[in-house]
Amino acid sequence: MTAIDEKTPAGAASALLEVRAAGKTFGGVIALRDVSMRVCAGEVTCVLGDNGAGKSTLIKILSGMHAPDSGEYLVDGVPAAFTSPRDALDRGIATLYQDLAMIPLMSVWRNFFLGSEPRLGWGPFRRFDVARAKHVVREELRSMGIDIRDVDQPVGTLSGGERQSVAIARAVHFGARVLILDEPTSALGVKQAGVVLRYIAQARDRGLGVVFITHNPHHAYPIGDRFLLLNRGASLGEYGKADITREELTSLMAGGAELEQLAHELSRGDPAG
Ligand SMILES: Nc1ncnc2c1ncn2[C@@H]1O[C@H](COP(=O)(O)OP(=O)(O)OP(=O)(O)O)[C@@H](O)[C@H]1O
Ligand SMILES: [Mg+2]
Repeated sequence: MTAIDEKTPAGAASALLEVRAAGKTFGGVIALRDVSMRVCAGEVTCVLGDNGAGKSTLIKILSGMHAPDSGEYLVDGVPAAFTSPRDALDRGIATLYQDLAMIPLMSVWRNFFLGSEPRLGWGPFRRFDVARAKHVVREELRSMGIDIRDVDQPVGTLSGGERQSVAIARAVHFGARVLILDEPTSALGVKQAGVVLRYIAQARDRGLGVVFITHNPHHAYPIGDRFLLLNRGASLGEYGKADITREELTSLMAGGAELEQLAHELSRGDPAG
């Protein structure tokens, strides 16, 4: 299903983004140390790890918010010199944060075009082309298979999953080549998480490189092509799908031994608990 670029056997040379041995500290806190990862077109790279593992720090490097203190960050094989997230966005690297920066009381179509409204006319008579905006949004959502009843409805009336889906369609419409999603499914139930995972697959099938951050190996495994596991800022490795089973991923994520200890502590009548 996932077509790796023909020109680049095994995805070897064609990473859209590549981080090599990156490190980042904040004061005395080592948020990331010696972490490497690749993001390739038409693939989903999952970043997994517990709270404080360094996931958000890593994506802030990818999205141009932070520069790494050590190591390298390459975009299309060339060292990135981003001074702000705007620079990364201009290179087609779109990051969707959990709160999504949408305005709940505004309609779906207005949110879609927030900050980049299509204009009619020119000079002082330029005005927002509402009909065209609605048409574009309808078409764009339809082409992603997103079924929103009415683009005039306020974003606040959408479910969390639908909101994420609109944000994904929006990034695709505005030319993203890389889509970075920070925990898009963590607040969602099973069904809605499934909806968001489907749109991630759509974006992947359109050839975008997707970075999917999650705590949940059950969300990551079905969709991921590669998996980067972080633990207290350090990498536990980057695995291709063929190199790791769902059970291994789950146990690495959960810290199998820690959970066993916890189960022991929580069991009734355990004086040590
Ligand atoms: N701007 C900052 N200043 C100081 N410390 C920071 C800053 N950003 C992150 N950290 C620290 O770096 C470590 C990694 O944080 P990060 O937000 O990357 O973790 P995370 O994996 O995204 O966690 P979560 O799952 O809770 O979102 C944490 O110990 C955090 O307190
Ligand atoms: Mg985070």
